Order: sequence, then C-alpha cells, then structure tokens
Amino acid sequence: MKSAIVTGVSRGLGESLAAALLAHGFAVTGVGRASADRLLGERYRFVRCDLGQVAAIEPTLAPVFADIAAARPRSICLINNAAVAGPVGALGTFDAASVADALAVNLVAPVTLTNLFCRAFGAVPAPCLVINVSSGLAERALPGSGPYSIAKAGLEMLTRQIVADVKAPGFRAISLRPGIIDTGMQSFMREQPREAFANVDMFRDFHASGQLVPPDVVAGKIVDRLVLGEVENGRSYSYKEL
Ligand SMILES: NC(=O)c1ccc[n+]([C@@H]2O[C@H](COP(=O)([O-])OP(=O)(O)OC[C@H]3O[C@@H](n4cnc5c(N)ncnc54)[C@H](OP(=O)(O)O)[C@@H]3O)[C@@H](O)[C@H]2O)c1
Repeated sequence: MKSAIVTGVSRGLGESLAAALLAHGFAVTGVGRASADRLLGERYRFVRCDLGQVAAIEPTLAPVFADIAAARPRSICLINNAAVAGPVGALGTFDAASVADALAVNLVAPVTLTNLFCRAFGAVPAPCLVINVSSGLAERALPGSGPYSIAKAGLEMLTRQIVADVKAPGFRAISLRPGIIDTGMQSFMREQPREAFANVDMFRDFHASGQLVPPDVVAGKIVDRLVLGEVENGRSYSYKEL
C-alpha cells in the first residue's frame, strides 16, 4: 500500500489532503493537535503532536515512522503542511516568544520531521517524496508578515537541502506554493487590524472578489499532479501549474 504522512489535519488544506489521499487508497498518518471528524477508517491513523513543542516531535514520531517502514509501503510521502500565519506586525513590534513559537511550527518542526523521515526512509527501495507547503511569501517580503515569510523561505531551502543531502534514486523533495485557499488562515489574515497589517485589504479583497479556492479542490490537484504524478526533484511548484 502507498503511505502518506500529513501534518495539520484538523482543518484547512491538511484535512483536505488527508481526505484526498484516503480516497486514493493511501494509508494516511495525520499528525497534529487534533484530527478532522471526516478522517476515518482502517487506513487512517492520527498521531497527536503539538508541532510547536519541538522536543517532543522525535520521541513521538520515530516509533510511528518505524511502524510505517515495517509495513513495507509501495511509496511514502511526507507533506509538511501545518503552519501558523501569525504573529502579524512589523519587525520591532514582536515579543521574542511569539516569534519563536511561529518559527517552531513553521520551520523547526518541518526540518525535524524531515530529518526523521530521511533517517527512516532515506535508504528504503520504495519511492519517497517530501512536499513542503510553502507560500508566495517565501520570496516576497510583505510588510507585516515577517515571521511567516522568513519561515517559508527557510522551508524552500529545506527542499533544496534534501536534494543536496539525500542521494537515494527514488527520493524526491519539492516545495509547493498552493495559491490562495479558503481556510482559517485566510480569515485570520483578513481580520488583522490595519495598524499591524497594512495589506489587510488585499486579503479582504481575495475573499470579497471570490478568488479563494476551496481546500478540497487544491488538495485534489496536489494529489493528482504532485503525489501521483512525476515531479522534478528540488523544484518549487505553484498552484497555477497544477
Ligand atoms: N490558506 C492560504 O491561502 C495559503 C496560502 C499560501 C500557503 N498556505 C499554506 O498552506 C498550508 C495549510 O494552510 P491552511 O490555509 O490550511 O491553514 P489553516 O486552515 O490555518 O490550518 C493550519 C493547520 O496547521 C495546524 N497547526 C497549527 N499549529 C500547529 C501546532 N502547533 N501543532 C500541530 N498542528 C498545528 C492547525 O491545527 P490546529 O487546529 O491544531 O491549530 C491546522 O490543522 C500552510 O503551510 C500554509 O502556510 C496557505
């Protein structure tokens, strides 16, 4: 059976990705603080893990990855999806703890999970794929979104670092900028006060003008095109290409 690990499965794109993968017959391991109600069945396993508590990631996930390896899956995919959009504001306005918390979930956790994934699966014969869910903000500094953008830039470097470090022939890593999706993250952005986030009207307009794409639509394309299709190792894909 094909196996996939998805972080952030309580809602949004992660919930939709896990549902799409289950619908395609994958064994899915959801990782996060909670799991969406619709993720059910024998092929679904939920592992409770607060990805902001980075010291707990390895002891929690190492035995899970060992179980997945022992089942000898036909292929294995890790989707680093979980993220937080805050804190929002200009540099100079943050407290250190809020910056550290955001970087923990958005960058330290994916690096830690990927390190474990490479240890567990870096030498297995089955095809392996890491998808790092990034953002257009990985390369664009939008005023007020520093901690998020900085983490996404680091996440795209993680993709390139995997390519540099892991030489197994069936191992692939890509970044994905998934476009603008109708999730809680978008509603969080459009609810920000203008004093903290000068670009809030851009996010309000995404919603008002009907530009947001339902997460099930985005997830379906990601699974069809990137998980089941051939990908170019190390590349950053955008939603428009899917
Ligand atoms: N929405 C967009 O327009 C958009 C655009 C570009 C990129 N993205 C990227 O797409 C991905 C999915 O975003 P989304 O829009 O689906 O966001 P979302 O609706 O806010 O969902 C975020 C997910 O991350 C989880 N998460 C947050 N903090 C966590 C923690 N400490 N431990 C474990 N899980 C945690 C959340 O779980 P809890 O319920 O436990 O908080 C939730 O399942 C993210 O990487 C995001 O940066 C989104």
